[in-house]
Amino acid sequence: MRLILDTANLKDIEYFNTHYPIEGVTTNPTILSKEGGDAVALLRQIRTILGEDKELHVQVVETQYERILMEARAIVKLLGENTFVKIPATDVGIRATKTLSAEGMGITVTAVLSPTQAMIASLAGASYVAPYVSRLENLCEDGVGCVAAIADVFAYSGTKTRILAASFKTVKEVLDVAAVGCHAATVGSDVMKKMLAHTATDTSIADFAKDWERAFGRHTLLELIPNERD
Ligand code: E4P
Repeated sequence: MRLILDTANLKDIEYFNTHYPIEGVTTNPTILSKEGGDAVALLRQIRTILGEDKELHVQVVETQYERILMEARAIVKLLGENTFVKIPATDVGIRATKTLSAEGMGITVTAVLSPTQAMIASLAGASYVAPYVSRLENLCEDGVGCVAAIADVFAYSGTKTRILAASFKTVKEVLDVAAVGCHAATVGSDVMKKMLAHTATDTSIADFAKDWERAFGRHTLLELIPNERD
């Protein structure tokens, strides 16, 4: 399962894009509102950090069919290749998805809360569907089960639509969707950090360093290995 970063915070994007194997960034109106300022300049900066090969998912704000089409085209014109336009799973959203997918635009149908929404989005030509795992769990529903059902339906139908699971609050949710055939997950900075951090890893590293220093002093292997050019 591929990992995408769910934030518009430039420092976080710089950090995780440098250190972690992320394949892009997702935003939504709430995520952009947290950063404030000039949203267009911010999206441009995110694209600059990511480069042109990584995915950038940007949600439409317009709600009328013709205006969604215009906004989607403007987003792609602004941010270039590998930009996916997020459109909510509504009647108008699906209509726009049909039109824009037919033009070859990458569409991520978002705010998906049921497998049938995902099915309709995939039939409309969406590149991705984004089921909201934690939001479902908070409604006492089975978020991971929803992703599993979508994965089954997509596998049977042979659709090219991928699952980009979203709305994660715990690392376990991320692991659980990976185990039921989810293609990609978009994860916020906090959860992303927790996926790698482990106190037992830190103590292991400290023990290695102590043992090494006791036996060999402060010199690292880099300093001890003779340089070919010497
Ligand atoms: C993707 O960008 C989704 O919009 C996002 O993951 C939703 O997350 P939330 O439920 O934490 O707002």
